[in-house]
Amino acid sequence: MSESASKIGAPETSKIITLTDTQNGLSVELPVLSGTSGPNVIDIRRLYAETGMFTYDPGFTSTGSAESAITFIDGEAGILLHRGYSIEDLAEHSDFMDVSYLLLYGELPNKPQRDKFAHDVSYHTMLHEQLTYFYRGFRRDAHPMAIMIGVVGALSAFYHDSLDINDARQREITSYRLIAKMPTIAAMAYKYSIGQPFIYPRNDLNYAENFLHMLFAVPAEEYDVNPVLARAVDRILILHADHEQNASTSTVRLAGSSGANPFACIAAGIASLWGPAHGGANEAVLRMLEEIGSVERIPEFLERAKDKDDPFRLMGFGHRVYKNYDPRASVMRTSAHEVLEELGVQNEPLLKLAMELEKIALEDPYFVERKLFPNVDFYSGIILRAMGIPMDLFTVIFAVARTVGWLAQWNEMIEDPSQKIGRPRQLYTGAPKRDYVSIDQR
Ligand code: CMC
Repeated sequence: MSESASKIGAPETSKIITLTDTQNGLSVELPVLSGTSGPNVIDIRRLYAETGMFTYDPGFTSTGSAESAITFIDGEAGILLHRGYSIEDLAEHSDFMDVSYLLLYGELPNKPQRDKFAHDVSYHTMLHEQLTYFYRGFRRDAHPMAIMIGVVGALSAFYHDSLDINDARQREITSYRLIAKMPTIAAMAYKYSIGQPFIYPRNDLNYAENFLHMLFAVPAEEYDVNPVLARAVDRILILHADHEQNASTSTVRLAGSSGANPFACIAAGIASLWGPAHGGANEAVLRMLEEIGSVERIPEFLERAKDKDDPFRLMGFGHRVYKNYDPRASVMRTSAHEVLEELGVQNEPLLKLAMELEKIALEDPYFVERKLFPNVDFYSGIILRAMGIPMDLFTVIFAVARTVGWLAQWNEMIEDPSQKIGRPRQLYTGAPKRDYVSIDQR
C-alpha cells in the first residue's frame, strides 16, 4: 500500500516442466514457480503464445490468479496465516485495528503506530450528510446487503475526480475512509430498516464498541457497550478480515484491474460476498437451523443434503480450500460459548441443535468422505443472533470485516509491476460462423 507494505520474497523458478502434445509433435517448456509456502505453480503465461491453446479451469480449482504476500491457507492442515501469523494467535492476542494494520502494511504495529492508525481511521467514521438521502430511497424492508452495495457504490461519486489510484498516499486515505465508514454505513442500514434515527459514530470508542453503539444506541437513552460483546464482535471482525483469493476478493481485484474507482470495486466485492455459497452462508445457517427446528429432524435434513436431486446443502459445512476443520470455526466455536454464557443463554435451543448437527454430520460417511467440516459461518450466526443482531445483518458484518482484506489485496495488486487487466478466455461451444438469415426466411 505504501512503501512500508512488506513483500517477503519474489517467487523462484524451482524447475522447468515440459508439456508435450505427441500427436502434433509440439513441446513447450514451462517454469515451475515456488513461493514461500504452499503448492508450486506452473507459470503458463507464455502457453498461448507458444501453443495457441488456453488452459480450462472453470471455478478456478487449479488456478493461482495472483502473487500475494498477505494471507496463506493450508486447507489440508486447516492452517490460516495473515502475514505469517496464525489466525488463532491473532484472535487471541490482537484486536481488529492491529490485524487491519498487519494486513495493510505487512507487520504488526508497535504501540505508537497502532495508536496513530486507530486515530487516523477514526477520523473518517462520519459519512457525508448527503448520503443519508440515499437511504431514504430504499424500501424499509430492503435487504441491508442491497443497501450496502448501493451506498458504498455511491461513495465513488463523492470521491472520484480527486482520486489518483497510482498515488500510494491517496490509496492509503481511501483505505482508511472505507474501513472507517463501513460500520457507519452498516449501522445506518439497520437503523433505517427498524425506523430508528441514525446514530452518529463516537470516536472515543474503539472500532467494535463504536459499531455496537451505532447499532444499538438511541438518542433518548444512555447506551453502555458490554465489553464482552465488543470483544466478541472484534473477534468476529478479525476472523473474517481476509481469506486469500476467494470469490469476493477476486471480484475486487478483477474490478480494480481495469483501474476502476476503489469504492465501486468494494461495492462489487460486497455483491459477490452476498451469495449463500460465500458470505451469505452465515445468514443461511440460521435460517436452516430454524427450519430444522429440532434434533429429531436432523436425519431428514442430512438425507436431503446428500440427495443429488435436492438443491438443499448443509449450510456452514464444506469449503473449497479447507479439507479439514476451518481454523476460524474452532475459534468461533469457543467464542460462541463465551458469549452465550455472558448473556446467560447457554441453553439456547439453536446452539444445542447446531452442536448436535455438527456431531452427527462429522460422523456421517457422506460428510467424512468428502471432508465437509463446519466452516466459519456455522458459528458466527449463533453468536450474532444471541447478541440481538438480526439475521439479515450477518453478512453485512462479514462485509465490514472483509473490507480491509479487499483493500490490502487491491493495494497489493496495484503495486504489482506485473499487474494487467484481468481478462480470462473461454472454451467456445456456440454456433460456428454462419450466414445471416433474414426475418422472412426464419
Ligand atoms: N452439503 C452437502 N453436500 C455438500 C456440501 C454441503 N454443504 N458442500 C459440498 N458438498 C458436496 C458436493 O455435493 C460434492 O459432492 P459430490 O462430490 O458427490 O458431487 C462435494 O461435496 C464437493 O463439493 P463442491 O460443490 O464440488 O465443492 P466446492 O468447493 O465447489 O464448494 C462450497 C464449496 C463452500 C461452496 C460448498 O461446500 C457449499 O456450498 N457449502 C455450503 C455453503 C457455505 O457454508 N458456504 C460458506 C463458505 S465459508 C465462508 C466463506 O469463505 O465465504
